[in-house]
Amino acid sequence: MNKAKREVVIAGNWKMNKTPSEAKALIEELKPMVEGKNGCKIVLCVPYVDISAAVEAAKGTNIRIGAENVHFAESGAYTGEISAKMLLECGVEYVIIGHSERRQYFGETDETVNLRTKAALAAGLKPIVCVGEVKEERISGITDEIVSMQTKLDLAGISAEDMKNVIIAYEPVWAIGTGLTATPEQADETCGVIRATLAKLYGNEVAEATVIQYGGSMNAKNAAELLAKTNVDGGLIGGASLKPADFTVIVDAAQ
Ligand code: PGA
Repeated sequence: MNKAKREVVIAGNWKMNKTPSEAKALIEELKPMVEGKNGCKIVLCVPYVDISAAVEAAKGTNIRIGAENVHFAESGAYTGEISAKMLLECGVEYVIIGHSERRQYFGETDETVNLRTKAALAAGLKPIVCVGEVKEERISGITDEIVSMQTKLDLAGISAEDMKNVIIAYEPVWAIGTGLTATPEQADETCGVIRATLAKLYGNEVAEATVIQYGGSMNAKNAAELLAKTNVDGGLIGGASLKPADFTVIVDAAQ
């Protein structure tokens, strides 16, 4: 299998932005702009409270809705948390897991990322598992080791069969929300390292079939160049996903 046979997934990560009414308005605006653009999957990962409004607004369109996190327990005494089953019942299909902001500000570790990923898969959600090095790690030349280790730990115990539903997002932490983007070559190379790690874990077939996105200041200007790379199968887009016109340019670049 080669890149041409892999799905391309363009996913927005709204982070902590937009109220339910704003979510509805944004999707209403975006809908006609991306209509019929089926050369890639289009996903919007939105805050929990926006999910119902987003699912409703996206009904019957080519826009799919995702969440930005999920807890690993099925239910119980976890005040403030949301389970995979709850998300599924609300119409969620995808869920971001282990975003660097979760790791940085909310104590997320590879162990909890792994538990959340397993819980999402068990419920039938498609996890978008985020990995990526911080600036010091890139400067020290240990990016490959870091992303490879995160990939192994985050996917520990997940079967080759389940990997059909897993997306990996390579997000260099130094590029997120900073306006600094990995060069297309850097993105391609590190997504390639992740793919090589998957080949070691699961064999070539799974590695070649897995969608690996790039994320980190992907925007209307740089998307085409990044998405053209062999190992880059889409994008996880923060800031630019809040602007329908910019997000549409990225979707167009992925057609
Ligand atoms: P950014 O965010 O596009 O605003 O850099 C990407 C992300 O955090 O997923």
